[in-house]
Amino acid sequence: MNFAILGHLMYEGQAEQMPQDWIRDNLVVSPQFSFDGTKGNLIALKLSAKQMVEMPIEQVRQKVLDAAVFAQDEFGAELIQLGALTTSVTSGGKWLIEQKEYTGYANHGDSYTAAVTCQAVLKAINLAGFQPSRLTLAIVGAYGVIGEAVSRILVPQFGHSILIGRKAEKFEKLEKELTGNYETTTDLKTKEADIIVTATNHPTALLKSEHLKKNAIVVDVSQPPNVSPELCKQRQDIIRIDGGFVDFPVKYDLGIPGMPKGKNFACIVEVIMQALENEKANHVGSIDLNHLMKTEKWARKYGFILNELTNFGMPITIPKETR
Ligand SMILES: NC(=O)c1ccc[n+]([C@@H]2O[C@H](COP(=O)([O-])OP(=O)(O)OC[C@H]3O[C@@H](n4cnc5c(N)ncnc54)[C@H](OP(=O)(O)O)[C@@H]3O)[C@@H](O)[C@H]2O)c1
Repeated sequence: MNFAILGHLMYEGQAEQMPQDWIRDNLVVSPQFSFDGTKGNLIALKLSAKQMVEMPIEQVRQKVLDAAVFAQDEFGAELIQLGALTTSVTSGGKWLIEQKEYTGYANHGDSYTAAVTCQAVLKAINLAGFQPSRLTLAIVGAYGVIGEAVSRILVPQFGHSILIGRKAEKFEKLEKELTGNYETTTDLKTKEADIIVTATNHPTALLKSEHLKKNAIVVDVSQPPNVSPELCKQRQDIIRIDGGFVDFPVKYDLGIPGMPKGKNFACIVEVIMQALENEKANHVGSIDLNHLMKTEKWARKYGFILNELTNFGMPITIPKETR
């Protein structure tokens, strides 16, 4: 099954840093790459993250649809992965599969991303010698697609959890599904947390120094990141971990600007695995935890797993402490 990975630019001017033969009128299009019989392309809208969230949603959705139809017509793509904020602007992908012009399948790739995020949180805590039951966890973007699944998996394991979102009424669905000791809030109360997961569609670095307690660990899933490289330099006590990076064979390098060699985003890997498995299904909207566990099984089969923790692509070590 052919697939396409749909994304957008992270910041204005990024198109100039992309391979220039990828640049078309309205899109950035990679050459077709091949994985053991399945083929795919990276296709990016020429919109920055800020434009993705600030432009009228109808216009952005039309651009997503046009790109999906382009992938379908030009490359025979039957499966579209909705990368970065293309998930947020299409109601978790549900909008795209309702459009008659696009006849293939869609997957936000958030299931394997949520799985790897939970793995990174538990791995970091384990390496530090902490016990989750003695820690406070904060999840920023807790009722989003990734945040919801991460909350369902991690909240029961932690002493206390602070679930953060922008609109109080949006917590209702999540609250019905959750067990454990937690609070929901619209305040950015991350300073009370030992470990923080960011999974927001905020288009710039959201967390500042005043939001982080001493020695806080942040698993930053958001793309663009919610913790900046500058903050990591300023606050040497904190540990920032790339959320959603997994091992990926160098021989299949997709040439994604900024992606360290031998790594790939878990969302991209999820769709590659679905294409390799030739699974004809949509994975949009709220995450089905059975599908999430299936992506972990596929990942073990193909070797696309979380081995080392990194910060902006650089391997990191977690100092051993006891809390
Ligand atoms: N690393 C990877 O492999 C990978 C893979 C997939 C996605 N991602 C990234 O992960 C992030 C989340 O993706 P998603 O698909 O879960 O998006 P989503 O479903 O749109 O969820 C994002 C959530 O963030 C919330 N939010 C935005 N600004 C906030 C703020 N200031 N404080 C608290 N909550 C805030 C939104 O709330 P409202 O609904 O109220 O606006 C929304 O519920 C995105 O940045 C995406 O690019 C990374």
